[in-house]
Amino acid sequence: MALTKKSNLSRRNFIKKTGLSLAGTMVISPAFSQVLSATTKKRKVALVGTGIRGISFYGKFLQEQYSDVIEYVGLCDINPGRVAYAKEYIGVDCPTFTDFDKMLATVDIDLLMVTTVDSTHHEFIIKGLEKGIDVVTEKPMTTDEKKCQMIIDAQRKSKGKLIMAFNYRYGKLFSKLKTIIDSKEIGDIISIDFNWYLNTYHGASYFRRWHGLRDKGGTLLLHKSAHHFDLLNWFIGSEPLEVHAYGELEKYGKNNAFRGANCRSCEHKKECDFYWDITKNETYMKLYAANEKHDGYIRDNCLWREEIDIFDKMAVQIKYSNNVQVSYSLSTYSPFEGFKIAFNGKDGRMETYEGIPWRDELQEDQSKIHDKEMDHSSHSKAELKYHEIVTQRNFEDYNLIKFPFVRKGHWGGDRLMFNEIFRNQIVDKKLKHAAGVREGSMAVLVGIAARISIDEKRPVKIAELTDLVPKKQI
Ligand SMILES: NC(=O)c1ccc[n+]([C@@H]2O[C@H](COP(=O)([O-])OP(=O)(O)OC[C@H]3O[C@@H](n4cnc5c(N)ncnc54)[C@H](O)[C@@H]3O)[C@@H](O)[C@H]2O)c1
Repeated sequence: MALTKKSNLSRRNFIKKTGLSLAGTMVISPAFSQVLSATTKKRKVALVGTGIRGISFYGKFLQEQYSDVIEYVGLCDINPGRVAYAKEYIGVDCPTFTDFDKMLATVDIDLLMVTTVDSTHHEFIIKGLEKGIDVVTEKPMTTDEKKCQMIIDAQRKSKGKLIMAFNYRYGKLFSKLKTIIDSKEIGDIISIDFNWYLNTYHGASYFRRWHGLRDKGGTLLLHKSAHHFDLLNWFIGSEPLEVHAYGELEKYGKNNAFRGANCRSCEHKKECDFYWDITKNETYMKLYAANEKHDGYIRDNCLWREEIDIFDKMAVQIKYSNNVQVSYSLSTYSPFEGFKIAFNGKDGRMETYEGIPWRDELQEDQSKIHDKEMDHSSHSKAELKYHEIVTQRNFEDYNLIKFPFVRKGHWGGDRLMFNEIFRNQIVDKKLKHAAGVREGSMAVLVGIAARISIDEKRPVKIAELTDLVPKKQI
C-alpha cells in the first residue's frame, strides 16, 4: 500500500525560485561587536601565515574590497621569502616579520588574522587573546583537545574576542537549508546523512603538502571535516555528545608502487595519474617554489610519500545531545567533487546535492572545481543556473526548490562573512552565522573524537575531551 501520493497523479512540482534576501538589516552582530565598535577609524589588522589563503582572501581580496574600513599594520610568516612576496602580492606598505612575538610587541593591532598551518593556530590565537586583541582564525580552530582547552581558557580570561571564520555557514545554499530546517517544514530533525566527495585533484592536493601529516593538520577529520561538522552542529541547533568512527589510508602514501622527490623532478611523470605541474601556476611558483630554500616546504610534494599518516577514507557516526543522529563520510579520490546531504525530519525529508555530473548532465573540468571555490572575482563564466533542493512532507508530494547557483567564494559565504566581520552587515540575525570559541571547539571536538575513535576502536564522548559540557539546544 502506497503511503505517498504518486507524483504522476497529482504532481505538485512546486518550483520556488527563492533567493535569500541579502539586503538584510544592517545591525551589529553581538558576537563581533567588540571588533566592530569603532565605526569612524580603520581597524588595524595584522596577518600571520602568508600562504595562499592568507595572501588571497585575507590579503588581496580584503585589501581591495575593504580598505575603506581596515588598514594593514603587519604581515608575518616564518618564511622570509613568502612574507616578502605576500607584501607585493597584496599591495600593502606595512612592516613584515618572521618573528610573531616581535610583531605583537611592536605593532599596534586591533584584529589579528590567523592563516598558518592548522597545528599552530592555537599559538597565535592564545597570544592574541592574552594581549587583549580580537582574533579571526581560519578553521580548524585547532587540532587536539589539549590545545582546544588552552584556547577555551584563554578566551575566558581575555577581553579580546575569538572569531571563527566558518565561511561555509554563510554560504547561500547552506543558509537556505538552515532557513528551511528552522521553518519546521519537515518537522524536527531526527537524523542526517551527509557524504562529501573530494576529487582526484582537490582531494589529492591535501596529500601533497603538510595536510598529509597528522601532527600538522590533525587528519582531514579536522582540516576538512571541521567545516562539515560545524555545518551539522549549526543545522541541528544542538551540540555533539558521542562519536564513533572508522578510517583507513588505502590509496595515497605508502600504498603506491613508485614515488619521487616531487612532481617537478619526478621520473614517473608519464605513468603517474596524479602528476601535477606547479610550473603552470605563476603565483604558486613565486609563493612556494621560489621560497623552498628557506624552509623546505615543497608544494608539489609526492603524494605517495611513505610518511603520510592520515586517513583517505572516513566514516563517522555522531549522536547529538538532542538525540539527532548523523552518518557522515569523506572520500578523497572521487572522480567528481561534490556532496549529498539528506535531512530526515519527523514530518518529512529534505535533500540536496552538488557536483554530481550524471544528475546535472554536465561534466565539468574536475581540475578546475576547487579554483572556482576559491575564486573571489565578481565575474565568472555562467555556471549551472540553480541548486536543486527537494523537500517532501510525509504523505504529500515533493517540492522542488530551484535555488540560484553560487559556488564561487565558498557558495558566496566568504564575502558575506567579511561583510559581517568588517562592515557590521548581517544577512539575517535569525541564522546566527557568527561563530566564536564554543562553535570552533564543538566542530574540532567531533573531528578529534573521530580520530581517537579510529585509533582506539571505541566510541568517544565529547565531554571526555575538554571541560565543555555539550548543550541540548544552542
Ligand atoms: N575556510 C576556508 O575555506 C579555507 C580555505 C583554504 C585554507 N584555509 C585555512 O587557511 C590556513 C592556511 O592554509 P593555506 O592553504 O594557505 O596553507 P599554506 O601552506 O599555503 O600557508 C600556510 C602558511 O603558514 C606559514 N606558517 C606555518 N607555521 C608558521 C608559524 N609558526 N609562524 C608563522 N607562519 C607559519 C607557512 O610558512 C605558510 O606560508 C589553514 O588553516 C587552512 O585550513 C581555509
